[in-house]
Amino acid sequence: MEIRKVGVLGCGLMGSGIAQVAAGAGFETVVREVSDDLIKKGFGGIEKSLAKFAEKGTITAEQQGEIRNRLSGTTSFEELSDCDIIIEAIIENLEEKRKTYQQLDGLCKPETIFASNTSSISITEMMTTTSPERQQRFIGLHFFNPVPLMKLVEVVRTILTDESIYEQAVEFARRLGKVPVRAGDKSGFIVNRLLVPYMLDSIRALEEGVGSIEDIDTSMKLGLGYPMGPFTLGDFVGLDTTYYIAEIMFNEFREKRFAPPPLLKRMVLAGLYGRKSGRGFYDYTKDPKNPTPMKLI
Ligand code: CAA
Repeated sequence: MEIRKVGVLGCGLMGSGIAQVAAGAGFETVVREVSDDLIKKGFGGIEKSLAKFAEKGTITAEQQGEIRNRLSGTTSFEELSDCDIIIEAIIENLEEKRKTYQQLDGLCKPETIFASNTSSISITEMMTTTSPERQQRFIGLHFFNPVPLMKLVEVVRTILTDESIYEQAVEFARRLGKVPVRAGDKSGFIVNRLLVPYMLDSIRALEEGVGSIEDIDTSMKLGLGYPMGPFTLGDFVGLDTTYYIAEIMFNEFREKRFAPPPLLKRMVLAGLYGRKSGRGFYDYTKDPKNPTPMKLI
């Protein structure tokens, strides 16, 4: 089966980015959200991103229009029934994801590939809610934020994934203009397996007074050439998301390195989620481009 039509579940930061990239690669793409408002918000982000690419000359005004024409939004699952691949990027909640997959399994054609953009939930746990035939066509496709710019996609296989479906998914990631890497269904896959302990250790270093927020960030940027220090990155990814991923990984591996430090938990409890809530390790409320470090210790 050739992949022609792409369905995306969720039009948040990740879902809208994935939809943009799929439409940009020439696929007819339909995005499903729970409300028209959320579709509008997600499509607004896509418009902004396309405008940046057009401004830089990465795409022409004509291509910008073509990409838009290949994209549509919907609040119904039915409109995804003839998609060749469904990429799910909804809330990181196992029960919500299982419910969604169960519903779609009955609606989609038997050949449709199901792919999850989860960063830490087990693909196997999600796939078992679908029919045995679908389980062989169930994979992970993990993108990185901001999706239109980050080149990597982790292509995740379970112990039941059909070999030819897996290879088709690897090829699909290439057609999206991304660089695929192969990963097994272990919580966190490759990137978060290494990134999460690093981010949590940075918070522990802060708690222990090794350095300030700014000095730890500057050290990792200028000492190692990382594009962002760990606290800027945490605020960018979302501290609630980081906390949630760490909890899942801690439950999977029962290892201290994945345990969220007390400060992270308290920041999440207090609503300091990072950029999206205006405050995290930095305060973005006054000048988002020049945020000031928070007094947390
Ligand atoms: N679409 C189009 N263009 C965009 C864009 C978008 N969504 N976001 C940023 N840009 C453009 C900007 O307009 C800017 O263009 P100019 O150079 O022409 O001004 C350019 O990209 C660079 O942006 P900035 O100047 O704002 O900032 P930057 O140089 O720091 O680059 C960045 C931004 C690419 C995000 C870079 O900081 C970076 O690579 N950061 C690390 C991101 C990262 O690690 N992501 C992974 C997070 S983990 C994850 O996603 C998965 C998980 O499971 C947790």
